[in-house]
Amino acid sequence: MDRRTCARMLIVLKYGGNAMPDGADDPVLDEIAALARTGMSVVMVHGGGPQIDAALKLHDIPEERIEGLRVTSAAAREVVESVLCGTVNKALVRGLLARGAKAFGFSGQDAAILTVRRMTVPGGDLGYVGEPVAVDATLLHGILGLGLLPVIAPIGLDPATNDGLNMNADTAAGAIAAALQADAYVVLTNVAGVRRDRHDPASVIPRLTIAEAEGFLADGTFADGMRPKMRAAIEAVAGGARRAVIAEAVRDGIVTALGGTGTELVRS
Ligand SMILES: Nc1ncnc2c1ncn2[C@@H]1O[C@H](COP(=O)(O)OP(=O)(O)OP(=O)(O)O)[C@@H](O)[C@H]1O
Ligand SMILES: [Mg+2]
Repeated sequence: MDRRTCARMLIVLKYGGNAMPDGADDPVLDEIAALARTGMSVVMVHGGGPQIDAALKLHDIPEERIEGLRVTSAAAREVVESVLCGTVNKALVRGLLARGAKAFGFSGQDAAILTVRRMTVPGGDLGYVGEPVAVDATLLHGILGLGLLPVIAPIGLDPATNDGLNMNADTAAGAIAAALQADAYVVLTNVAGVRRDRHDPASVIPRLTIAEAEGFLADGTFADGMRPKMRAAIEAVAGGARRAVIAEAVRDGIVTALGGTGTELVRS
């Protein structure tokens, strides 16, 4: 991809907590800063699964998931909010600033940029977990227009109760990618793409349509965190993002994903 193509693009990037390294060396942040320098508009939405699990353990709060989604009690929500909006968000902001990108960190609650409602699933009560209702795309475009790089923690505001609700980061990112009509929704995770057989790294599916992805959700090919990830990718593409790519968080992983590594999801 040449510089001129990069400069015109708007991408929404989901960076998985599972893929983030512990130390200061982070090839994903290197690449984001380099892309921002070309003039590409990048909106980053981050996860924090392992970081939250570690903090919950310290607080003796048990962790439970339904359909790959974290069940969030009132006590867990406090921990989730402090880890996502505090520790993880600020570490990413500092990492990007150190690389010359004007990162601006906030959560979906701030300025009510991402409004949500309580999410229900057939398998039980998820507690303080939100699903997207609306995204303030105008405000996000305004932030991008100031030359800032938004780094968004996946907590949304429920206007009915004025609660902050925890969100799966993929779910938040997919809604944002749709609202911004992103040129690409790029999901960086800890696997090199979506697998036909989840235990076989050689079974990565290069290209999927929405209908095929829905089939794989129904037959259980996608499990755990891959389920909300694929649902979010479907929402993004169905809602107006040009395409979604799911790829591994490695050096130059964004540009290579845009060039065809990993799994691409298209409308049809
Ligand atoms: N068919 C599949 N192909 C690939 N991975 C799969 C599949 N089914 C389930 N998975 C699991 O999904 C995981 C990725 O989702 P996960 O939620 O763990 O990471 P993340 O979303 O990048 O991080 P975070 O949730 O912290 O933001 C993979 O590591 C793998 O274990
Ligand atoms: Mg996940």
